[in-house]
Amino acid sequence: MSIEKILITGANGYLAQFIIDRLHSEYQLTLTDLVEPDRAFADTTFIKADVTNTAEIEAVCAGQDAVVHLVALVRGRSDKPLSLFADVMVKGTWNVAEACVKQGVQKLVNISSISACPPAPSAKLPYQVDDDFQFGGGDLYYALAKYLGEQIGAAYHQAHGLDVIHVRPGVIAGDGQNPGPSAPDVVTDPWFVYVDPRDVAQCVVRAIETQKVRYGSYNAVAGRADSRFSWKQAEDDLGYSPEHNWPEIPGGDA
Ligand SMILES: NC(=O)c1ccc[n+]([C@@H]2O[C@H](COP(=O)([O-])OP(=O)(O)OC[C@H]3O[C@@H](n4cnc5c(N)ncnc54)[C@H](O)[C@@H]3O)[C@@H](O)[C@H]2O)c1
Repeated sequence: MSIEKILITGANGYLAQFIIDRLHSEYQLTLTDLVEPDRAFADTTFIKADVTNTAEIEAVCAGQDAVVHLVALVRGRSDKPLSLFADVMVKGTWNVAEACVKQGVQKLVNISSISACPPAPSAKLPYQVDDDFQFGGGDLYYALAKYLGEQIGAAYHQAHGLDVIHVRPGVIAGDGQNPGPSAPDVVTDPWFVYVDPRDVAQCVVRAIETQKVRYGSYNAVAGRADSRFSWKQAEDDLGYSPEHNWPEIPGGDA
């Protein structure tokens, strides 16, 4: 079945606007968030819903062919309690997966993160999505919630045949909470962890379009020789081809 109608959760967030810009001319978009987007997007419908509320999420999933799930605790997260991560990110993602199945949605594109599976000391650079991983103390609530979000997707794929693709962006440049990339004084190993939000949006489009992949996790990072996380699997399986790779910063020639 072809995908025509797509629900975007977290539609008032930073990354969502790039995904909406990329998708809105080809798909019928419904946007949802706790807060209506500040920017008006042509030809879209907004429905307010809280991902922690099962009934509200089930209602917004009705009639959708695919869901792009972006809600997470991103800004100012270091001050937030465990209970909020459990509610918004774990229960929220679980609600979305369950709602997809109940409402007959075909595909869930879950925006995860390169933080979902922190590479273990034994993992070799550049990191692949299926490398050994090991959690550390820093940002544990966020990393663990992202990991559990992927596990929820895996369970719903196995149990109910929901197509699930986890897109793991690198650090998103321009999101207002990080300075963006700049050349290091000494380059010792692949160090580049950034991605342009337009390339994340491209990876989401590829994940929506693919007929071949029914389940998988993919890094969406800059297409540079010095990227710390490999994007090759996304290139091979989905046709992801990052276009905004900071050529002015040396070391990136792929
Ligand atoms: N920003 C980055 O560098 C980065 C890197 C990797 C992955 N990601 C992932 O990308 C996604 C988007 O990130 P972003 O930077 O655009 O974040 P953002 O904070 O700008 O957007 C998150 C949105 O979720 C909404 N939201 C929060 N709680 C909600 C709830 N209970 N119900 C409904 N909506 C709720 C917020 O209102 C907000 O609009 C997230 O899943 C994030 O983990 C971001």
